[in-house]
Amino acid sequence: MSAKTDKLLSILKLQPVVPVLVIDDAATAVPLARALVAGGLKAIEITLRTQAALDAIRAVAAEVEGAVAGAGTILNAAQFEQAVEAGSQFIVSPGTTQELIEVANDHEVPLLPGAATASEVMGLREEGYQVMKFFPAEQAGGAAYLKSLSSPLAGTLFCPTGGISLGNARDYLSLPNVVCVGGSWVAPKELVAKGDWAGITKLAAEAYALKG
Ligand code: 3PG
Repeated sequence: MSAKTDKLLSILKLQPVVPVLVIDDAATAVPLARALVAGGLKAIEITLRTQAALDAIRAVAAEVEGAVAGAGTILNAAQFEQAVEAGSQFIVSPGTTQELIEVANDHEVPLLPGAATASEVMGLREEGYQVMKFFPAEQAGGAAYLKSLSSPLAGTLFCPTGGISLGNARDYLSLPNVVCVGGSWVAPKELVAKGDWAGITKLAAEAYALKG
């Protein structure tokens, strides 16, 4: 296993659930990340879907003790570079392109690339990837679909994301080819808007308790 894969796995194994965040106001990033870390969720994916995302990554990486800031929804090489420059320790993409594979090869920060079909998984295996994001998990076929990949594509591990919640997370976490799941349910927009950090810590702790 490569050093980069090792690094990625050690981050993903910190917790059963990686929060997927869409941050509209960078000022909420630090208290939100602190609330998640307090509940046990240290690895945090901040998606580059908003203007505030890079500032949010920068703030979490610099100010939140115990947090492992990562960047999500990385679609091209420029975003990859910006996310690394902001302090991301891991990079997540919903799918895979040659451009992303090439930029990832130039960096020590590991990429968790997206795949949803056997062919996509096989393509990434040829590029040396052993750990992938299965996206969009529920919509693409759910835990039963992912389970059916575990025997023919043995050796590949997944972090399924998309449509996962406290209610169905165990269906995925019990599979032999799942290392963790990702989800936005631990940071609902309403709680963030209210600044209900205690409520978010409670959701994070419930998610962390899925470990086992
Ligand atoms: C992602 O980017 O991984 C998903 O949008 C997160 O999906 P969810 O909002 O359904 O958890």
